[in-house]
Amino acid sequence: MKGIIFTEFLELVEEKFGLAMVDKIINQSNLESNGIYTSVGTYEFSEMLQLITHLSENTDISVDDLLLVYSEHLFKALIKSHPYLVNHYKDPMDLLASIENHIHVEVKKIYPEAQLPTFEIQRRTKKKMVMLYKSDKALYMLGKGLMLETFKLFDVPVHIDFEKINEQGTEVRFIINRKE
Ligand code: HEM
Repeated sequence: MKGIIFTEFLELVEEKFGLAMVDKIINQSNLESNGIYTSVGTYEFSEMLQLITHLSENTDISVDDLLLVYSEHLFKALIKSHPYLVNHYKDPMDLLASIENHIHVEVKKIYPEAQLPTFEIQRRTKKKMVMLYKSDKALYMLGKGLMLETFKLFDVPVHIDFEKINEQGTEVRFIINRKE
């Protein structure tokens, strides 16, 4: 998993819960990196799982809710560091529909070691889009949050439902309904 995902995560933990909490979750985890991350490095996904699980235990906030909060922070960081990837989109549906064939394709060129999810568009009309998320990381809540942030960026109201296709959440169907 790319370092930017870790550095932004720890920055948010510090902002919301303080530096002592950053130290605490690092110390509670068994990290090959010793908790030292650079945005361009690549680290084991299991390190992120440990950090977020410990944060959840220490704060009594579910991992899903933490991922939703994190997605807000991460989205801002991603578009700040790669504005040219999103600047020309005029509509949130178009942006989301382009993750698979444009945005994440470019991400893969910048970070060849990135392990990205796939998003297959199963149905699309003017107001509704059905997308199938697949990733062995099962970070679908992060995906939901990033989708919500995309709509927020364009100030377009939306309702997003999802159905887990399997128990682990490595395959999840998103139903995106635009509300205007
Ligand atoms: C400027 C826009 C974007 C950039 C630069 C970007 C970049 C990235 C990067 C660097 C990762 C980490 C990959 C790794 O650690 O190996 C990632 C993961 C991810 N991205 Fe994007 N992304 C963008 C937009 C989006 C949007 C709009 C969505 C909405 C659904 C999305 C969904 C995800 C998900 C769910 C993951 C987690 C990995 C997984 O589930 O397997 N991304 N993205």
